[in-house]
Amino acid sequence: MVWDVAVIVGSLRKDSLTRKFVLAMAAIAPDTLKLRIVEIGALPMYNQDLEGNDPAVVVDFKTAIQKADAVLFATPEYNRSVPGALKNAIDIGSRPYGGSSWSAKPAAIVSVSPGALAAFGANHHLRQSLVFLNMPTMPQPEAYIGNVTQLLGADGRISNTDTAKFIQGFLTSFAAWIEANSVKTKAS
Ligand code: FNR
Repeated sequence: MVWDVAVIVGSLRKDSLTRKFVLAMAAIAPDTLKLRIVEIGALPMYNQDLEGNDPAVVVDFKTAIQKADAVLFATPEYNRSVPGALKNAIDIGSRPYGGSSWSAKPAAIVSVSPGALAAFGANHHLRQSLVFLNMPTMPQPEAYIGNVTQLLGADGRISNTDTAKFIQGFLTSFAAWIEANSVKTKAS
């Protein structure tokens, strides 16, 4: 079974360390997971007045989430919480009321920071939203990636052996979590 995982990257910048780490994760993911980044940078700011009149970029975003079997959130930390762009994407996907694109999708979180605290605050603020969104979010293993500049090699891969092993275990656990919590059974 191969699970299609939408990856939401919380940073919009071109040289994002979070995005680099996600790409490095994808390179060592088990065969049972297909990680594909769903972009959030072109989404408009959520405005309830515009509901029901979604521009194509919003429709495409919601469709991409609905099609996915699961969601991996990769977030940096801004001021001890999630970046506004990530919260905006979450809000957009959550509406219209009763038609959330996120509901029941198994999820996991990896928080990434060049600092030592590993974006713990963002990781847990995000968990709070995912509880409300009815996304079964993998409790363990937790993934707090601190000092990330020391973990990525010039080739774009995870250069630290222990971190690479940890991420492989994290993704293997996520595949099992998706299997256990998926509302649909996949044929292949
Ligand atoms: C930060 N940064 C940061 N880091 C952290 O560990 N805790 C924090 O609360 C914050 N706050 C914060 C606010 C704002 C507005 C910015 C721009 C940055 C630093 C942040 O971790 C660093 O810039 C990362 O490199 C951002 O992730 P990407 O863009 O490299 O993926």
